[in-house]
Amino acid sequence: MTLRSITVLLGSVIFSGVVIYWGFNIMFPSKPNPSRLLLAKIRGGDYAHAGDKDAFRVVLPKIVDYFKERLVEQTVLDVGCGLGGTADYLYTQGFYNIWGIDIDKGAIEYARSKYPFIDFSVWDATQVDQKFEKDFFSLLYLFNVFYALSDQQKMQTLNSLAAVAKPGALLVIFECTSPKAEDPQEIKDLTGKPMRPIVLPVFHDMIKKSKWEIIEKVDLSDQYIKWYKDLLYKLDQQKNSFTNEFPVEIINHLTTTYIAILEKLEKKTWGGIVVYAKRKPD
Ligand SMILES: C[S@@+](CC[C@H](N)C(=O)[O-])C[C@H]1O[C@@H](n2cnc3c(N)ncnc32)[C@H](O)[C@@H]1O
Repeated sequence: MTLRSITVLLGSVIFSGVVIYWGFNIMFPSKPNPSRLLLAKIRGGDYAHAGDKDAFRVVLPKIVDYFKERLVEQTVLDVGCGLGGTADYLYTQGFYNIWGIDIDKGAIEYARSKYPFIDFSVWDATQVDQKFEKDFFSLLYLFNVFYALSDQQKMQTLNSLAAVAKPGALLVIFECTSPKAEDPQEIKDLTGKPMRPIVLPVFHDMIKKSKWEIIEKVDLSDQYIKWYKDLLYKLDQQKNSFTNEFPVEIINHLTTTYIAILEKLEKKTWGGIVVYAKRKPD
């Protein structure tokens, strides 16, 4: 075999692989995780964060106040956007330039088809600086996403977000907290990822080493208890109406996960918080 024929053969193998991959993705698009779809039904929106719409009532006034109502001009990044309901909610409030990223391909395909006016893509939070321009975003937020990252990834994400944030940009982190580092095997989220709530002293150290400065923190521990109680109540009330659409194992898995979270919140071994931070000048 000549070098030329080997090159041609290799080229055609790679080309066929790419065509098959594209074709497969078009014919069989990724589907969102069924637990997420069930959760969205129970929550009454495409959200997977504590408090559903009520969380916006807590957080949005602060954001609107920060931008002094010039919402339409702001460039917004929803980090770990999931099914896209949070980004859509911000859009309905007047933020028209929104990008969303998430590592879950099925969730992104769902978000893209349901909310085509928002720019969604599959991307990792720790590497947003490799996707977007420097100094691009004026608002960046994570709604119950930070818990899914290890300490090293949390730090990488803070740095990566700082790189794409304009000086003075607002970062909002809405998350559960814990006074000490969690055993990552203890509670897993619906995708099987260990939950690692924010440990405040560790988080403060990370912020100090980053280009962010905290401007306000609001404890949401009591609201988190109410929100998870409400969610479990809705799940219990509605579960029989979902048994045709979702396997009973999924309904049970959702219930046991949220009972475990509620127990931690009630024992005060977990809490909730929203942190507002500002990008320091370079
Ligand atoms: C509990 S859901 C919250 C979704 C969304 N923020 C909301 O409020 O509905 C956590 C999301 O974080 C995403 N996620 C986890 N690790 C990530 C990472 N390294 N980069 C981007 N997204 C990530 C998950 O795929 C999931 O969609």
